[in-house]
Amino acid sequence: MAKSQHQPIRPFLKWAGNKFRILHHIQRTLPGGKRLVEPFVGSGAVFLNTDYEDYLLCDSNRDLVDLFKLLKRRGQAFVDSCRPYFEPRYNNADAYYRLRDRFNQTDDREERAVLFVYLNRHGYNGLCRYNLSGGFNVPFGRYQRPYFPEREMLAFRDKAKQARFKHQAFEQTFVHSDSGDVIYCDPPYLPLSSSANFTSYSAGGFSMAQQQELARLARVTSERGIPVLISNHHDKAFTTEYYDGARIETFDVQRFISRNGANRAKAGEVLALFGT
Ligand SMILES: C[S@@+](CC[C@H](N)C(=O)[O-])C[C@H]1O[C@@H](n2cnc3c(N)ncnc32)[C@H](O)[C@@H]1O
Repeated sequence: MAKSQHQPIRPFLKWAGNKFRILHHIQRTLPGGKRLVEPFVGSGAVFLNTDYEDYLLCDSNRDLVDLFKLLKRRGQAFVDSCRPYFEPRYNNADAYYRLRDRFNQTDDREERAVLFVYLNRHGYNGLCRYNLSGGFNVPFGRYQRPYFPEREMLAFRDKAKQARFKHQAFEQTFVHSDSGDVIYCDPPYLPLSSSANFTSYSAGGFSMAQQQELARLARVTSERGIPVLISNHHDKAFTTEYYDGARIETFDVQRFISRNGANRAKAGEVLALFGT
């Protein structure tokens, strides 16, 4: 029901933990409804590949949300401002660190959004990581010919006509949910192990207390008649305790979140559906 009829649309950003490769699991589990609410929208793989009438798409990463709003508002003109940075003269370490400094020094949201697209495609592994003072600190990625995702940006812009974007923490997004909504939550993963604790999407990380609070909000919101689907790394003890009462599906997925390319192992994924 929630599944889009078209060929899968790829997100234009590289994004750690993006759900493009497990879309089919999510599409067949998401209940129907009028509006899909995503408190952790990331690159928007699920938004792009579902068929709800409306979307409320939120994330605590301000650069990401500003970029989506600008792309929606300015469309082709915004894409045109990004294109020059994909010329070969900007694909070297000197240019990268100069543009990264410029990104970190400017308060101009449009300039930041344009540079965010450049950094995403030229930085190491497409990571998005900030230091504690909020400075973007991903090193140069050394790609031969970074791809300019014009087609994907325009597809996102088209679909974004149905969407509102908000920069906010997940707790706030739950407050803004209403009857007729379906909520899909894709938080930063529970750690696979202490050495693989990848929680640096924004300065501050994502704590175990936040994972527990998310599970609590999912439960109480589903009791108000709003179904909530959470995807996460499958940790048996956590799933048993905090997703108790939800409909659980588990499966294996190839993960690409490690800093060490050799360490790309299969890991268990869980989908927990609260309500319906
Ligand atoms: C696993 S990613 C989501 C990936 C997305 N489903 C996709 O397909 O690209 C998790 C997202 O949660 C966001 N995030 C982290 N902490 C958050 C918080 N406290 N509230 C809201 N969003 C948060 C991150 O910025 C990141 O975009």
